[in-house]
Amino acid sequence: MDMNEILKTKNLSKFFYGLKALDKVNIEVEKGKLTLVIGPNGSGKTTLINVISGFYKADEGQVLFNGNDITNKPPHEIHKHGVVRTFQIPQPLKKLTVLENLLIAEQNPGEMILNSLTKKWVEREGEIVEKAYNFLEFLGLDHLWDSEAYKLSGGQLKLLEVGRALMANAKLVVMDEPIAGVNPVLANNILDRITELKKQGITFLIVEHRLDIVLKYIDHIYVMANGRVIAEGDADEILNNREVIEVYLGATDEAVKCGV
Ligand SMILES: Nc1ncnc2c1ncn2[C@@H]1O[C@H](COP(=O)(O)OP(=O)(O)OP(=O)(O)O)[C@@H](O)[C@H]1O
Ligand SMILES: [Mg+2]
Repeated sequence: MDMNEILKTKNLSKFFYGLKALDKVNIEVEKGKLTLVIGPNGSGKTTLINVISGFYKADEGQVLFNGNDITNKPPHEIHKHGVVRTFQIPQPLKKLTVLENLLIAEQNPGEMILNSLTKKWVEREGEIVEKAYNFLEFLGLDHLWDSEAYKLSGGQLKLLEVGRALMANAKLVVMDEPIAGVNPVLANNILDRITELKKQGITFLIVEHRLDIVLKYIDHIYVMANGRVIAEGDADEILNNREVIEVYLGATDEAVKCGV
């Protein structure tokens, strides 16, 4: 195993009835890097994230995280390993405030219940609130700490999801379209925060269509089509890959818009 590799899939497959949504997918994700997964609609990107994070079971193959086999473990166990996913459509608890959404994402619920009546708990609660508030400052959401989540813009909700992942002590944050529908300024802001978190050793695996914005932040790209990885490399290699261009031109106008 490569010293810097945090996640690896081995011949990972997922079938829906007759359809091969994932067909022997092999990817490797390096620690502290941003790895991007692209591909036309329906190519298997979200399915890949769902299988890695335990929301769907694999039919074949393996997922290794820090060398541990986490294949088909239940989502909460994978979460405890430090693999935290965010959703294509953010799923905050809308009536809770921004701060409360972070507080409930904190790990160690068992400890919270055990200590809930003791002085130690009161101290711990203070620490958790401070931790949450610091993350809100880092993400530029601190001024919204007492707003209910439903009042946030799409981009602010994506940042809130990053905050929830940080509260859960994520080592690998797996994000499905973190900048979809977000204005370019806020999208760059989200990616800039991610870049800061990479420096602290947090790893990101991201699915995103908006190559025009995301490309300058990424370290490595996998391209999927029909459930298979058809190419990998850095941005230059991918943009000049004939098979990638054909797949995009054949399927969507996404890449054309981005100048692929
Ligand atoms: N729960 C499911 N049941 C049946 N088929 C599914 C299910 N989830 C995904 N699929 C199918 O698997 C294939 C891959 O879907 P997936 O959602 O992974 O694509 P995607 O690359 O994320 O697409 P998009 O860019 O549109 O989000 C598609 O053909 C889809 O219809
Ligand atoms: Mg998807």
